[in-house]
Amino acid sequence: MTALPKPRQPELKTALPGPKTKAIMERDSRHLSTSYMRPYPFVPERGEGVWLTDVDGNTMLDFFAGIAVSTTGHAHPHVVKAVQEQVTRFSHVCLTDYPQEITTSLAERLVAHIERPAEKWRVFFGNSGAEAVEAAVKLARNHTGRSHIISTLGSFHGRTYGAITLTGSKTKYKRGFGPLLPNVSHVPYPNPFRPPLGSTPETCGQAVLDHIELLFQTVIPADEVAAFIIEPMQGEGGYIVPPANFLPKLRELCDRHGILLIFDEVQAGMGRTGKMFSFQNFDVQPDIVTLAKGIASGLPISAMLAKESVMTWPVGSHGSTFGGNPVAAAAAHATLDLLEGVVKHPGCGESLMENAREVGAFILAEVRKMQPDFPFLGDVRGEGLFIGLEFVKPDGSPDGKLRDAASLAIFERGLLNLDCGEAVIRISPPLILTREEAATGLSIMREALATL
Ligand SMILES: Cc1ncc(COP(=O)(O)O)c(C=O)c1O
Repeated sequence: MTALPKPRQPELKTALPGPKTKAIMERDSRHLSTSYMRPYPFVPERGEGVWLTDVDGNTMLDFFAGIAVSTTGHAHPHVVKAVQEQVTRFSHVCLTDYPQEITTSLAERLVAHIERPAEKWRVFFGNSGAEAVEAAVKLARNHTGRSHIISTLGSFHGRTYGAITLTGSKTKYKRGFGPLLPNVSHVPYPNPFRPPLGSTPETCGQAVLDHIELLFQTVIPADEVAAFIIEPMQGEGGYIVPPANFLPKLRELCDRHGILLIFDEVQAGMGRTGKMFSFQNFDVQPDIVTLAKGIASGLPISAMLAKESVMTWPVGSHGSTFGGNPVAAAAAHATLDLLEGVVKHPGCGESLMENAREVGAFILAEVRKMQPDFPFLGDVRGEGLFIGLEFVKPDGSPDGKLRDAASLAIFERGLLNLDCGEAVIRISPPLILTREEAATGLSIMREALATL
């Protein structure tokens, strides 16, 4: 790789939104699905690295990576080359029926990050996070012969029927869509900033585990539970990191009752937290893992990884026409090259995972330094480039209105950002973000927050 991109400032050539943006948004509002959200007016035209230029020529710094997807930034030359080369060979020959070396080797690379000496893993490829989650639930039911699935409040697992049933973040995903999947229950997520069940930051993990055991004694027969699905770090729910001992103890609980443990790594996985999978920040091993978003720098591919001993569904029982598409698989290989450091990105140390760890720690420390000046920043948390800023009212309750105002003020100064949870702004930039670019984004945030 050559030429280290020079840190730039956002360049705003028009008032936002510019005339072309306005015109496209108007057409968009007439012909696209009424379900699409438009948090602020932005219509991209092209991207380079951590910068996105809109159709009016306004260049913005990207602090959300298309919801934690653009791992290697926009139009990374290594990814572009891999895609171009594969598309000239072939772009589809249905993986469900015919093996393809590019997906065989991609599966080998993915399982290498999770396998242990006496524990082999297998991969099912899909196209989206929701499909990976559906596959995980189908496999868990098929393998165990049990039907019940337990999920968490605040979770997000996608928008297909199984996935919305599991989702526990907002009722808008469910209202008017029932009946949903039967035999799904939700338990609180151990959020140390807002400890559930009358617990404290220190005891919230144990409180959730006790609550699950209570449910097993009272309403859910444990021997009918196929799986527990959880985001090891919660994404849409507010970028929440659970207490360090929670997931290992949840593993023990699942083992006691013969329940499979599914980690949904769709948002936090693929190097974002400084480890390939976010659960690797804890001492725990799941039975099934779902991946999507950041796996291929924006090309659509997802994966459901399962222990070989668990992936026992019979031939022909599950598949996908497009799943494991070879062009997307080529992009995934190129993304892994950069994540693992097989290919180096200038200015990002040995690997993008290392960069995520280092630049993430820098951002976390810098935003925490801002907290005394902005007391409405009630909590600043995260791991690597998976960072959440929670806005609070003086009484400590979530301040969604102030968060919305902050998000807009930050955008208007040329920094693309995205909300999550009730009152959180997430910082989930491409993992190629340098410390200088991070500092540019932080000074924009500081300026915007000062106007609130
Ligand atoms: C943790 C998690 N799981 C699943 C999904 C669903 O992914 P997709 O939108 O690709 O279906 C998301 C999407 O935000 C997610 O964050």
